[in-house]
Amino acid sequence: MGSALPERVLTNHELAEMVDTSHEWIHSRTGIEARRIAAEGEFTSHLAERAARAALDHAGREARDVDLIVLATATPDNTFPSTAVEVQSRLGIERGAAFDLHAVCSGFVYALSTADALIAQGLAERALVIGAETFSRILDWTDRTTCVLFGDGAGAVVLERAGGAAGASPRGVLASSLRSNGTHKDKLYVDGGPSSTQTVGHLRMRGQEVFRFAVSATVDVVETVFAKAGVTADDVAWFVPHQANKRIIDASAKKLGIAPEKVVLTVQHHGNTSAASIPLALAEASSDGRIKEGDLVLLEAMGGGFTWGASLVRW
Ligand code: COA
Repeated sequence: MGSALPERVLTNHELAEMVDTSHEWIHSRTGIEARRIAAEGEFTSHLAERAARAALDHAGREARDVDLIVLATATPDNTFPSTAVEVQSRLGIERGAAFDLHAVCSGFVYALSTADALIAQGLAERALVIGAETFSRILDWTDRTTCVLFGDGAGAVVLERAGGAAGASPRGVLASSLRSNGTHKDKLYVDGGPSSTQTVGHLRMRGQEVFRFAVSATVDVVETVFAKAGVTADDVAWFVPHQANKRIIDASAKKLGIAPEKVVLTVQHHGNTSAASIPLALAEASSDGRIKEGDLVLLEAMGGGFTWGASLVRW
């Protein structure tokens, strides 16, 4: 595991000087106290590279051992080439494959499942799975309903073949379930893009509808991974959900029957960092000793599209 955050902390109090809001409103509605904002010239690839290097160090692996990079982001450095190949080149890797994966806030769960499937299929041996975002670059900083919610950051994991047949190892990704439904696309989107407007655009959201969906509809993917792995909520040691809003996380945990003390919460420090939020939370909870080898960890996310998904991981 590894993570990277920009140095600059933007507090709710500072935001209250920029738009008509208050620390009390933001904190009571979302749990967020502060978020990090990338510096000028600090790109998604820089955060991704730092997180990747930290993950390689933590795993005791060299960059040259990596033959797959799957980088989840909705805020790439450029329209193309992918941010993943930028990271690949900065790490000095000239073999294997690297690509970006776009599933917005569900990006990390999608990327982890994709890398796991590619390794299981024999297409790769050792992957860097990265979630990295600079959402500060696509926010409308005059819109108080969205600009208070998001932040920048990156997290990465090293995933490698454990030997034996696919699924033979007791550790790693035990089960995943991915979903999307594009009929919800106008509830959370960016109003620009290379083909439509030739601009980057700004994030737009119908917050209450997103909130309702996030709490109710994502239960199906969790039940699917529980059934696939033959476990129940009681077996879960740690629930590491996408960090969008503390109220969404609390309500989801309650609905799933997961005790509050098993929930890893980092949204207060980072805001919603989209594809980076789960690996940032995983890095924190594994480095402070909460998540231990052998623990059953449930990951769950929902984002624009809508996309949603869950993965069950034996640490
Ligand atoms: N500061 C102060 N007031 C604000 C505000 C802010 N930053 N943002 C909105 N308001 C106001 C609204 O204008 C509204 O005022 P009105 O009643 O006079 O019209 C009032 O607060 C209530 O707005 P509402 O949207 O009903 O608040 P809410 O309790 O639903 O909370 C969110 C808003 C955005 C926090 C909540 O809907 C949410 O978290 N949604 C999910 C967002 C999310 O997680 N998206 C990413 C998913 S990946």
